[in-house]
Formats: sequence, structure tokens, C-alpha cells
Amino acid sequence: MRVLVVGNGGREHALAWRLSQSPRMKRLWIAPGNAGTAQEGENVSIAADDIKGLVQFAKKEKVDLVVVGPELPLSLGLVDALASEKIRAFGPSRAAAQLESSKVFCKLLLRQADVPTADYQVFRDADSAMRYVKARYPNDRDRTPLVVKADGLASGKGVIVCSRREEVLDAIDRIGRKSEFGKAGLQMVIEERLEGPEVSVLAITDGRTIVPLPAAQDHKAAYDGDTGPNTGGMGAYSPTPIMTEELLETIQDKILVPSIHTMKRNRKPFKGVLYAGLMLTQTGPKVLEYNVRFGDPECQPLLMRLQSDLLDLLEATVDGRLDEIEPPRWDPRPSICVVMASAGYPGEYRTGEEITGLDAAAEVSDVKVFHAGTKMQDGKVLTHGGRVLGVTAIGASLANAKLQAYKGVQAIRWPGAWCRKDISDKAAMYIEKMAANA
Ligand code: AMP
Ligand code: GLY
Repeated sequence: MRVLVVGNGGREHALAWRLSQSPRMKRLWIAPGNAGTAQEGENVSIAADDIKGLVQFAKKEKVDLVVVGPELPLSLGLVDALASEKIRAFGPSRAAAQLESSKVFCKLLLRQADVPTADYQVFRDADSAMRYVKARYPNDRDRTPLVVKADGLASGKGVIVCSRREEVLDAIDRIGRKSEFGKAGLQMVIEERLEGPEVSVLAITDGRTIVPLPAAQDHKAAYDGDTGPNTGGMGAYSPTPIMTEELLETIQDKILVPSIHTMKRNRKPFKGVLYAGLMLTQTGPKVLEYNVRFGDPECQPLLMRLQSDLLDLLEATVDGRLDEIEPPRWDPRPSICVVMASAGYPGEYRTGEEITGLDAAAEVSDVKVFHAGTKMQDGKVLTHGGRVLGVTAIGASLANAKLQAYKGVQAIRWPGAWCRKDISDKAAMYIEKMAANA
């Protein structure tokens, strides 16, 4: 098989790494890739959102399968453009990718499919949104638990969680009047603020058959103890003790199955990875959002645990044969990924620092260093993004995996490098608490 992976993050390095291990892999390209993906295949310098360039390349090189990592090319219709040239691609069509690219589309689908989610209203302008909030919460300025969301893609920043009325009005102002999120803010969703622990469930689906993946937990806040600004994700681990068999079954029956079936009924069949961001409320799990791709960094510990051939799994999804293949096998041992970031991230940061110690880190047992924001120049690996590396380990226990991952981290140096020190501690505390209660 000749395979092209699209994207340049840690997720794409993990995908390329696992795909390169398939006995059926003949040639592997990554567009545009990073210094890490270049070790698994050949990087080609075409941007992930250059739809025309990617299609031309896939045609010229007779690519058998394109694997799309990030949401942007999916929402721009890369899979449709490839399909019109008879090139197979893993990922949803543009129409199905609206589950992530439009919060309004997502909420309408959830309502139609009768999937539990926060109650909401849609607004096309700031004035009507403000009138609604003032009418609905006339006296209670200090308690207005609402969430204001820009409709379109905003790199995870277009969601503003509020407690007081002033915050809600300010959020509406930022989205609807100041256009802080550009066109993404042409419509907005205002919904009730839910309470509870958050979990993510990812499932692979060919539009009919749904294969849930083991639960994985992200760490969105920048600093230890879940403090500081939101980021793309500072680390992840899998499995998560909070996700029991029973809970997963409820999520499958009440959330995943009706969502996928309603997409099919609406003639927008969803193929690829569906990533459900959920909140476990007093009245059961509710959907906060859907993403239409693997999470980054959740993908890294997940793929560390995958024992089956990833190429077989992705190809069966594309061909609508998921019901015919063996369910994927997972290493029962836990895995964790610690993200190393540039000084200043998620704010402004510098790039071009030389990274040393990668060879030493690679020698730590059960560790794989996935590259995210890196590039190769004159034989040196340089920082080239905010999230730079995802040091990922697998171990007999979560504590063991954590120890190995941080050994890997310690081996790696560049000026200003930092990471969270508490990745997976929440799971360890949860396990301790359950043991104490037992
Ligand atoms: P989203 O991109 O929609 O997942 O939102 C990003 C984050 O905002 C989520 O991970 C939650 O922490 C928070 N969030 C979104 N919607 C709600 C809600 N209805 N209630 C409480 N928190 C929310
Ligand atoms: N780690 C969160 C995301 O990929 O959206």
C-alpha cells in the first residue's frame, strides 16, 4: 500500500509510526510532517489545508489511502475532493465534518437524534442574544451559569464558560460584535452550563458499525493541578479508571449509536473517528461537543497500546467493512504521553531552539518520543511550534508508565523547555479513592 498521512502534529507522528509497522506498507508519505515523521516515512512539503496540492500529489503518486489527521482539511472537503478522483481517504466528508466545524449543526443533530446534551439556543446576532440572557436571568446577576460558543472552528478557543451575567454579556460581545473569532462567530450557541467530570470517548466507525476505542484522558489546562490557560492538550493517558464497562455501554447506546444512525439517515454518513467530549452529570453522560478526528495528544497513548494492524483497521473503515474484521486488540498496560512545550506556550513563544537528548530519550525502555512542533535543519532538530514533543511510555502500571515517560523527558533539553509534572495523577488519585472505598 502507498499511504499519505496529512498533518504535522504529534497525532500524525503516532499515526505514521504505527502505519509504518504494517507488513502491507510499501511507501509512506507525510504532508507536511515534522522531524519525527521523517523517521517513519518521507515528508512532502504540502500544507495540510492545501486541498488542491494534496489531491494532485495523491494522484501523481498513485496513493492507495490518505489518512487525514486534523479537522481543517476535513472541513475544507479534502475527503470529497479525493473521492472525486477515486482516491480513498480515512476521515469524514465535508458534510459529516460539520459535526465539529459547526456547533449549530452539531446541536441540531443531537436534538434530532434525541442524544443528551445541554439545553441551548442559537443566535445570529449579539443584540438578540443579549436580550435573551437579560430576559431569562432578570435578577440573578451573580448566577448565570451559561456557556457561549462561536459556531465555527476556533482552535478550541471559541467556547466561553461563564458564571455571572457580566461574563455572559462580555462573551456575546467578543463573539458577536468584536468578531474575535472571525467568521466562526457569525452564529453562536448559548447553552446551560453543565457540572461534572469530563471524559472523552473515541470511536471508529464506517457509518454503520461502531468500534469504541479505549478511553483516554486529556489535560487541557497549561499548568499542574489543572490551572492556567487552556491549551491544545499538555498530556494524556489511557485507559481511564473512571470509564467503566457499564458507562461505556450507556454512552454507546444513548449517544454514539443514535448520533451515527441519524447522520446516516440524513444522508451524511459519518466515516472516520468520532470523538465525543462528554460531561458525566447527575442525570447521566451528556455531549459537550463532537470532534471528527483523533484527539491530540489522546492519539499518542492510544496508538502506543494498539496491537492490531492500524492500516487494516483504517482501510476496513474506509471500505465499510468494519463488521468483517476482528475487533482491534489493545495492550492492557496503561500508557501516558507528556507534552513538552516551548517557553511562553500557549501564548507567544520562540522557535528555532536546538533540541538535544533525543537519542538518550529513545533509549529509555518502553518510551517513544513523538514529535509535534519540530523541524530538521542542517542535521539538527529544532523547535518549530508551541507543543514540541509528546514523550509517551507504556508500563505495567500507570505509575510505572509515568516514571518511564518522565525519565524520557529528563533526557531532553532545549532552552525554555517545560511540561506539566502531574500527567495521570488524577487517575492515580481516583484509583486510590476507589480502593479506599472498597
Ligand atoms: P467544547 O470545545 O465545546 O468541548 O468546549 C471546551 C470546553 O468547555 C469543554 O471541554 C468543557 O470544559 C467546557 N464546556 C463546553 N460546554 C460546556 C457546558 N455546556 N457546560 C460546562 N462546560 C462546558
Ligand atoms: N486534545 C483535544 C483535541 O484534540 O481536541
